[in-house]
Amino acid sequence: EKGGWSSFMLKEITEEPEAVADTLRERIHDGDVLVPELAALGEEALRDVDRIIVVAAGTASYAGQVGTYAIETWARVPVDVQLAHEFRYRDPVVGPNTLVVSISQSGETMDTLMAVKHARELGARTISICNTQGATIPRESDAALYTHAGPEVAVASTKAFVAQITALYLLGLHLARVKGTLSLGERREMLDELLAVPEKIRFAIGEHERVAELAHWMGSASAVLFLGRHVGYPIALEGALKLKELAYIHAEGFAAGELKHGPIALIEPGLPVFVLVPSPRHSEEMHRKVISNIQEIRARGARVIAIAEQADAAVLPFADEVIALPLAGKFFEPLIAVVPLQLFALELATAKGLDVDQPRNLAKSVTVE
Ligand code: F6R
Repeated sequence: EKGGWSSFMLKEITEEPEAVADTLRERIHDGDVLVPELAALGEEALRDVDRIIVVAAGTASYAGQVGTYAIETWARVPVDVQLAHEFRYRDPVVGPNTLVVSISQSGETMDTLMAVKHARELGARTISICNTQGATIPRESDAALYTHAGPEVAVASTKAFVAQITALYLLGLHLARVKGTLSLGERREMLDELLAVPEKIRFAIGEHERVAELAHWMGSASAVLFLGRHVGYPIALEGALKLKELAYIHAEGFAAGELKHGPIALIEPGLPVFVLVPSPRHSEEMHRKVISNIQEIRARGARVIAIAEQADAAVLPFADEVIALPLAGKFFEPLIAVVPLQLFALELATAKGLDVDQPRNLAKSVTVE
């Protein structure tokens, strides 16, 4: 139950470090990734996988989008994410070497279940990333890779999201081992990054008070934008979804590179814009581009809240507010950066007197199409 927490959502955000750590447990052997559940598919079948399609809805689909970058880099397999409810109606090109990975916290989402059934009919192999033991979707799949986030009660998904990304990374590293696309040393480096995530999430949760203050002065905002690049892009989408769901505010996430292709027309004085700033230690070029996006929107009067690495001094002169987070490898930043956005949506909704665990019109598990 809720214990001493003001909401299930806050309780579940604080459980994120364990959600990641527990999802990693028993899938690392002798310093290498070995996901026993994937053995059900056979090493040869995994080696032959030449395309991955992730099917999911909502927050789970954004976890899928985060996962695409690392899996493509590590396993050298093209990865697409398709919304489960769209996948079924688009005559997908799927063959025996296509791996269809569904992601669902509940394991009961009808849209996702129907996508999995469709994929199987087309001859694909299917893996279910699911948080609920024995749910329908894992039972309908060739293999199940459970996330161990524990029961998620709040309607808005939080700890399941970080566990889903963790599971995708395990899948990516397992594939990279089977396919020989990463050396043992490279796999270990990525595993060390994953193992360091829980502590960094704890740091991010420690920023709760700062985030609550921000939410306080933004209590009357009628719209909020979120910008990100690369793995920060799906986090921008997720930050916006959380705010729509919980605070009933018009919120949009954009790929920062899209700004000049349209969305910059939305910028007006006082508009709060969250910007996910990648560490310059991963890519100076990408960092420079995001800083220049910040300058563009600030010149038009937006209030910029940057989520940046704590040692990134370059961002300070350009942002109105900075939420500083510990350095994480480039694929691992989203697991940390999503936390302040979840807390922000929670605090803004709370400031508006709304029930964060039971937002209007939403159900935890969507069992109709
Ligand atoms: C967002 C949210 C929804 C779910 C989506 C998929 O906070 O909760 O977007 O992520 O309905 O649900 P599952 O993961 O149960 O398939």
